[in-house]
Amino acid sequence: MQKIRLLDEDTINKIAAGEVIERPASVVKELVENSIDAGATRILIEVTDGGKSLVKVTDDGCGIGQEDLSLAFQKHATSKISSAVDLSSISTLGFRGEALSSIASVAGLVEVHTKLRSALSGSYMKIVDGGVSAIKDIGCPAGTSISVRDLFHNVPARLKYLKSASAELVRVTELVTEMAIINYNISFELFTGNRTIFKSSRSEDWNDVLLKVFGLETVKRLIPFRAESRSFSLKGAVGGPLCTRSGPDWIYVFVNGRPVSSRALTAGLREAYRTIIPLGKSPIAVVSLEINPTLIDVNVHPTKREIRFQNEEEVAKALIEAVSEALKVKAGSEIGIGQGQATAEQPRGKILGPGEITDLTVASVADQSTFPLEIAGCQVKVDLENPEGVEVGPSRLRILGQVLKLYIVAENEQGLMLIDQHAAAERIRFERLRERYGQKTISQELVEAVTIELSPKEQQILESWKEVLADIGFDIDHFGGSTYNIRAVPSTGYRLESPQAIHDILSDFFSQGRIGPDSTNIEEVLKILACRGSIKSGHEMTNSEMRTLLKDLYACQNPHTCPHGRPVAVLLDIAQLERIFGRR
Ligand SMILES: Nc1ncnc2c1ncn2[C@@H]1O[C@H](COP(=O)(O)OP(=O)(O)OP(=O)(O)O)[C@@H](O)[C@H]1O
Ligand SMILES: [Mg+2]
Repeated sequence: MQKIRLLDEDTINKIAAGEVIERPASVVKELVENSIDAGATRILIEVTDGGKSLVKVTDDGCGIGQEDLSLAFQKHATSKISSAVDLSSISTLGFRGEALSSIASVAGLVEVHTKLRSALSGSYMKIVDGGVSAIKDIGCPAGTSISVRDLFHNVPARLKYLKSASAELVRVTELVTEMAIINYNISFELFTGNRTIFKSSRSEDWNDVLLKVFGLETVKRLIPFRAESRSFSLKGAVGGPLCTRSGPDWIYVFVNGRPVSSRALTAGLREAYRTIIPLGKSPIAVVSLEINPTLIDVNVHPTKREIRFQNEEEVAKALIEAVSEALKVKAGSEIGIGQGQATAEQPRGKILGPGEITDLTVASVADQSTFPLEIAGCQVKVDLENPEGVEVGPSRLRILGQVLKLYIVAENEQGLMLIDQHAAAERIRFERLRERYGQKTISQELVEAVTIELSPKEQQILESWKEVLADIGFDIDHFGGSTYNIRAVPSTGYRLESPQAIHDILSDFFSQGRIGPDSTNIEEVLKILACRGSIKSGHEMTNSEMRTLLKDLYACQNPHTCPHGRPVAVLLDIAQLERIFGRR
């Protein structure tokens, strides 16, 4: 081991900055938070190259005096607290006094234009590679404008981990959206080049900004709720039982104006929805908690994304009650329509939820003829050690039933077979999509175009994935604002992709690290599409569904593995069964 030494100031700063500034969206977050703390009513955010070359935030807040300007960029310099005592009653978004110094230490160039509201002239400051290179008087409007150029140019390790400009832009968009939702009394505008990505106007009415984020159709279905207690108040809006998403991306939780990830509150929300939405679906929700700051600790996470509560259970309970009550009052009629969907409490698996209609439901014609089923040209033999070593020849397969709502149990003359229903369905869908893609027949025109509304983040993902989406059969065009027309969708020949599924597909595309929007690997894209529409585990299957699934599976070119390479079926042959039971 080498001798222990103290690190130099520059290295210390870069290490510390790593915690606060992870990517361009972190710069946007810190600058926008400062603008909000400065009392801005309008915040303008410009990014270039997803924020990698430029993030510029301009506000009309209180401004910074010249004597404070260089101090603002030093470590532990803040105007928001003066001693540790203040930590227990924080009412501003910032308080650590490290954001600007962190940004300056990892950016190539930072420029500030700022003017106090009461001052006659403003100030300009330039910081190159973390060092102040100029401060001077300048004429500029009241407020502050900070440009951050060439992020991480001196931290190659970090630079390497940044995603493409379009992926970073999606994160920036999400961040701005989040800040705009909770600060609806402030106007926000995010743009890149001459394209406006998000724009909201300050308003007293929360719905105005929710409209920009979720679109009219969703906002119409949001149900408001409120709850008060001595130490906190909760308010927000939640989607009805038919307003669901495949992931939690439309759950926004804020505590004292701060977007947070709170496991307790999200779990509370899910609890309120437990018996009303299908398994595996997420609700749409905006939750704002205002709580006495002495009851929370916001200083537990460098980016303040997590906070600690003294009375977490009490708050979660109040949330469950308020949301349950809201859902009860307004959603009765919607629940009626949704009957038949499997919910966490009462699985009624035989009827599929709208997003889960698979090839099976269409293909499972009323063919209830008797077992055993003849599977043409298939002899199935699976070696447990090597599940891919399957031979196919003539065989009869008798379906015995389903276990754990996941595996189909069957027998043939060789032994006992277990088939993973999701893996099988995925394989079938994948091959059908691939075939139709190859034949250039994947795209199926809709009888009537369907109108959908996309959130700013979704629009951003759509923008970067539009060529791939067109390639796999989506014909989507921009109608104006957040509205898009879908004229054609991918089809397996048995089932059309639901136009509404575009929300989930966009979110799947974005969350898949493996492929990018410039992907030429269309198989990977088709795998996502195949997985999305396939029958899931947890779905109780009828005999005829199981039969159709197996028939379709063994009509596949490769029935042995799912598109991701996992085995679809295993066989416990007679010899293995005999060994297990000590007959041999
Ligand atoms: N847009 C702005 N308008 C007015 N003052 C600002 C602005 N941005 C920064 N400042 C001043 O610079 C100081 C340092 O900002 P910085 O973001 O580094 O620290 P902070 O906001 O106090 O704490 P944190 O590190 O938690 O964000 C702030 O305390 C504030 O006084
Ligand atoms: Mg700050």
